[in-house]
Amino acid sequence: MKILVTGGLGFIGSHTVVELQNEGFDVVVIDNLSNSSETVLTGIENITCKKPIFEQIDLREKRAVQKFFQKHSDISGVIHFAASKAVGESVENPLLYYENNIHSLVYILQELQQKNEANFIFSSSCTVYGQAEAMPITENAPIQPAMSPYGNTKQIGEEIIIEVCKVSNINSILLRYFNPIGAHSSAEIGELPIGVPQNLVPFISQTAIGLRQELSVYGNDYPTPDGTCIRDYIHVVDLAKAHVIALQRLLQKKNVEKVETFNLGTGTGSSVLEVITAFEKVSHQKLPYKIVARREGDVVSAYANTDKANRVLGWKANSSLEEALESAWKWEQKVRL
Ligand code: WQD
Repeated sequence: MKILVTGGLGFIGSHTVVELQNEGFDVVVIDNLSNSSETVLTGIENITCKKPIFEQIDLREKRAVQKFFQKHSDISGVIHFAASKAVGESVENPLLYYENNIHSLVYILQELQQKNEANFIFSSSCTVYGQAEAMPITENAPIQPAMSPYGNTKQIGEEIIIEVCKVSNINSILLRYFNPIGAHSSAEIGELPIGVPQNLVPFISQTAIGLRQELSVYGNDYPTPDGTCIRDYIHVVDLAKAHVIALQRLLQKKNVEKVETFNLGTGTGSSVLEVITAFEKVSHQKLPYKIVARREGDVVSAYANTDKANRVLGWKANSSLEEALESAWKWEQKVRL
């Protein structure tokens, strides 16, 4: 079976391509290389001994998307990662985010709705919950007003999919990620942030390798046990495996609704200071950091209730925070060699 993975050379996308190929799927990757590199294809091939078909397409080009689906009319499923995803950048340049994240989604759905059946996995985010009232967060937690244009594009994306699935043969699963971290155990693929990392774990690993002076911890005056924010850090390979399971659920027509939603996390919350301590343990080195002011838009705490994914998908995250951090550190050392 042929599966399209958009953004398939990105961080989560590339790990998902590996798991799809491990399961015997034929994969076609679309990526515009705006936040990734073709060298990732080599990493995927080194792991799976199979190179996915790659087409460099910008999904904002409607004609290019149409031509792609004419050429690849035998696609059985689509996993859609391609999107801009930097929260801060989205605040400074909202139209870039609305154009890229929404137009790309619309053009793909326009092609899928012409098919007799279509299976569509959407990369969503726990950002849609904003600061949820109750922890751990379930899929029924209310969607809060978006805290950034990036988060809004995820909310709008989910709404578009729900409306389109009502009037088409598309079946969809929305996967709401918590905080993906780490890298494949081979260290052949991993996170490749461009410029100064916005996210905690790549900044930590770049500090530990000497690329960054010290980590700035954005506030320690939050109402949490140690004053720093709490998140649910999930190993990217665990996350990738959940995508394959969700896709198979649709291919085997096991879905009970046209659109199903799942939170993908470990179910455990870790504070920034706990992540630092865990990283120091696995890297056997002290991490230089300083406490600075809070970062605009940060929620105090967000970690997943994973009961639904465990029960319905039969999926559970396996890796611990330390194992995920160890894989991130191994990748950082490999990349800097
Ligand atoms: C985690 C914690 C920071 C950097 C974002 C998006 C989310 C998803 C993952 C795309 C927070 C603190 C961070 C640093 C720090 N992205 N921190 N110093 O903000 O939870 O989620 O990335 O899908 O949609 O919102 O992740 O890693 O940026 O921050 O203290 O240099 O680490 O304040 O508490 P976040 P993050």
